Amino acid sequence: MNGKRQRDKKWWWIVGLAAGALTVGLLAWLRRRTHRRTIQRRFWNPVYDRLAHWYDGVDWFTGNTTHRWRRSALRYLPPAGSRVLEIGFGSGKLHTEMARQHRMAGLDLAPGMVHLTRRRLAARGLSSRLAVGSVYALPWPAESFDAVVSTFAFSTFPDAEAALDEMVRVTRPGGRVIIVDAGEASDGNRVAHLLARLWELMGDYMRDEVPLMEARGLAVEREEYGPWNAVHTVVGAKQIGIAPRHHSSIISK
Ligand SMILES: C[S@@+](CC[C@H](N)C(=O)[O-])C[C@H]1O[C@@H](n2cnc3c(N)ncnc32)[C@H](O)[C@@H]1O
Repeated sequence: MNGKRQRDKKWWWIVGLAAGALTVGLLAWLRRRTHRRTIQRRFWNPVYDRLAHWYDGVDWFTGNTTHRWRRSALRYLPPAGSRVLEIGFGSGKLHTEMARQHRMAGLDLAPGMVHLTRRRLAARGLSSRLAVGSVYALPWPAESFDAVVSTFAFSTFPDAEAALDEMVRVTRPGGRVIIVDAGEASDGNRVAHLLARLWELMGDYMRDEVPLMEARGLAVEREEYGPWNAVHTVVGAKQIGIAPRHHSSIISK
């Protein structure tokens, strides 16, 4: 009986590994033929919109680890009562937590996510000015916020330069841009490197936001955590007296 169980277990491993290898191979094949920009537009954007109600499944699947990473943005927020903008808030879990203390606004491209977050806020008697829109054209005047937060969304924006220009524009001098996302580890470990390649196969953009923020005159700090340090928080403080920058769009495949 025990021997049979061992054999069954071995087969599950073989089937699992074969299915994993097949999926990665298929993704690699698709990626060679498709721009990441197209993957985001044609696949992920409709998925975020139509499957918004399933998005919290990611937290369930990871035993809430993803939410703990997301929450690491909280310790960089300005004091209670500050004006905070969240971009790409998804199903609104972090947004709802921030709305308990701050004057919130939020923007997401997916109407399904905006609808879900509105309901989540209303159920708790909280409020936020939510908008459906794109990070590339934020519908707020310059210097409107004390902090701009984005978790696991920046790596889905094809044009990092244009996105960050907008995020910095709406941040007041002395305020902060806070980004939590996946990426390479600074110790160059191979597992984080492989994970980053896997995210890229799925259409994401693995970036180090530090040079991007420094190019905009922000004073930057970065911390890493998670398995193999494959997740990071980058915080840029906007210095007083920086002139707004005009971006040049960089589109990478
Ligand atoms: C991977 S989800 C991250 C959601 C959430 N912040 C989290 O921590 O899990 C990316 C989110 O960014 C949104 N998004 C994608 N492109 C966007 C854009 N150009 N402007 C604003 N939001 C965008 C998506 O609709 C989605 O809700």
